[in-house]
Formats: sequence, structure tokens, C-alpha cells
Amino acid sequence: MTIVGARPEFIMTAPVSKAVREHNTEILVHTGQHYDDNMSDVFFSELDIPQPDINLGVGSGSHAEQTAQMMIRLEAVMLAEKPDWVLVYGDTNSTIAGGLTAAKLNIPVAHVESGLRSYDRTMPEEVNRILTDHLSTILFAPTQTAVENLKKEGITSGVHMVGDVRVDVLPDTATRIRTLGYQLPAGIGSLEGKPFALTTIHRASNTDNRERLSNIVHTLSTLELPVVIPVHPRLSKMMGEFDLRFSDNVCAIGPVGFTDMVALLDACQIVITDSGGLQKESYMMRRPTVTVRDTTEWIETVESGWNRLCEPDPVSFKAAISQAQQTPPDSHPAFYGTYGVSQRICAILEKHARA
Ligand code: UD1
Repeated sequence: MTIVGARPEFIMTAPVSKAVREHNTEILVHTGQHYDDNMSDVFFSELDIPQPDINLGVGSGSHAEQTAQMMIRLEAVMLAEKPDWVLVYGDTNSTIAGGLTAAKLNIPVAHVESGLRSYDRTMPEEVNRILTDHLSTILFAPTQTAVENLKKEGITSGVHMVGDVRVDVLPDTATRIRTLGYQLPAGIGSLEGKPFALTTIHRASNTDNRERLSNIVHTLSTLELPVVIPVHPRLSKMMGEFDLRFSDNVCAIGPVGFTDMVALLDACQIVITDSGGLQKESYMMRRPTVTVRDTTEWIETVESGWNRLCEPDPVSFKAAISQAQQTPPDSHPAFYGTYGVSQRICAILEKHARA
């Protein structure tokens, strides 16, 4: 039984579900954490993900409300379906809800994208990933750093360094886009062929703090480089609450699906983000990145010089952006492994199932 609920999980489940379903039965459960068409359905249709067998329809809420509702509904589903394994991805509230419910029912848990740490416990995702790792039987680590992080917490058994699932999805999508001459999303037409910064901001630590958000909006609005920003629902809500507006320098569009995102990555000069997944995708696409956070779980992107962490104060934010616009580093190590991650995950799961 695979549990998904939010955008990064949909991207990761696409190739893994395909591999699992070649020789096994998969029950795909969508918690309903993301529910708008452009936050959920578009990923299923574009990435050819099987329709969820069950949608719990939990929707939004406080962390406790959302996670608790998921657990109550997941328990009933797991008791009825009796899965041999529960597979969870990443670090969302759907991840911890799936992992904890299964562990309490003595159903073994496999965790994809295990071992990541920002070492910032104020992030809800950090709490989710630590707890999920500690209750999982099989831990699929994307990088050697992740393996080392697990070792520091005493977790060595069941750890498999398989690489990052996105290498099974992203390069293929980028090649398709280049071959077919994919059109950029409507609304950014005038930027076609020109340099721009692709930006996403959605973390509560940035959106829910008036001063931070005001600095971010002001900096993006006054850059010399045009900005394209697919707006997460929380960002638009909080900009409304704080009465903030972008200038004409910023082209704000609604949330985009995976293909549009890869097309934007391919077309942009640099990336400015607070997303975890996008930092890694921009690395894979060789786009220099400024991360509007003081920590990252993808530390190798920073150490290699492709990513810069920064606080959104007006001076250091603009300085980091102009540094990112300079010549990128020559070296680009393959931190995230090689194609076939999903097949490796599936082979390990099958071996454990037979044991
Ligand atoms: C979640 C993950 C985060 C991941 C992100 C990807 C957690 C704790 N965090 O954050 O790790 O990077 O997904 O996008 O699980 N909303 C809508 N429509 C939707 C979904 C959400 O309007 O379809 C709005 C709601 O107001 C909601 C807010 O967005 O309260 C935030 O959504 P939520 O599910 O809490 O998590 P994300 O911030 O998206």
C-alpha cells in the first residue's frame, strides 16, 4: 500500500508505482492533503500515475487536525486491506500519518527519500522525516549524506542507498520538452527567450512572517532580472492578509504541473526557492539556485557551489541573487545516482517480501 498526498509524493510515486505494478499488487491511497486540480490531478494525468484506489479526502487543517484525520482514516483502510508493506515518501504530514499508522498496526514501513536532515526542528517536515525514519523497516536513502545522517542516529539496518527517484522522471521529461519544443505556460509569453528567475515560495516560515514575506516580495519586485513565480495557495493567502503586491517585474501565475515546471526550469537563468524538491531539480537541470532558508537537507548542492542559502534581508538576498547570475561552477557531480532508482527500490521490496 502506497500513501501519497502532496505534490512531491505524486512525482516520486509515478515511476515507483509503475515498477511495483509489474509484478505486485499496489493499493494507492491519496490522503487528500493536496486537493486542487492544479496541486493534484494535473500530476496524475501528466505523469500517468494510476488513479488512487482510495482517496481519503482529508484536505487542509492544522498539523494535528490534518495528521490525526489521516491516521483515523488510514487505520480503517489498512485494517480492511491488510497490506504486506506500507510505502511512504518524503516528509509531509501524509508521510508521517502513513508511517505511524502502519507501525502501530505492525505493518512494516518502507520510506523513500529517507535520511534527509536540515537539523532545524522548527520545520514540520524535519519532525516528519525523523519520526518516519525511526519507525521504518526499509530506508531508501537518495545520497551518501543521507546514509551518514541515519548512521549518526544509530540507524544502519535496512538502509539502502538507491539514488534519488527524480532521476527516473526529470531527465526524461526534459528531453521530451526539448524534442517536442514545449510551450511555456500561458501568461509568461513575453519572457520567452529572455533570461528570468524561476521562483517558488511556500514555506510557512517565509509566508507567515510579515517582515520576511514583505522583504521577499520587495526584493523580487525590484530585481533587474524578471521573475516568474507559480504561486502556492498559502503564498497568495498570506500576501492578501499582509496586503502585499508584486510589481510588474514579477509574473505571477497559478501552481503549475510537473511538465510546465520542468519547461520553466529549462528556460530560466536561475532559481530562487524555499522548496526542498526544487533545489534538487534545479541542480539536476544545472540552474544556479538561491534558497531562501538558513538550512537545507540537500547540502551537497551548496557544497558544490550550485546553491546558496540566504536570509531574505534586502542586502544579502540581492547579493546572493547576483552571485547566482555569475558563471556556474565547472564541476557537476552526479550526487543523485543513475537511472533505475525505481527498479532498485522495487527489487529490494520484493526481496524483503520473500524473506
Ligand atoms: C506540503 C509539505 C511540504 C511540501 C509541500 C509541497 C507538510 C508539512 N508539508 O506543504 O513538505 O514541500 O507540501 O507543495 O506536509 N492548499 C490549497 N489547495 C490544495 C492544498 C493546499 O489551497 O490543494 C492550501 C491550504 O490553505 C493549506 C495550505 O495550502 O492550508 C498549505 O497546504 P499543506 O497541505 O498544509 O502543505 P504545504 O504547505 O503544501
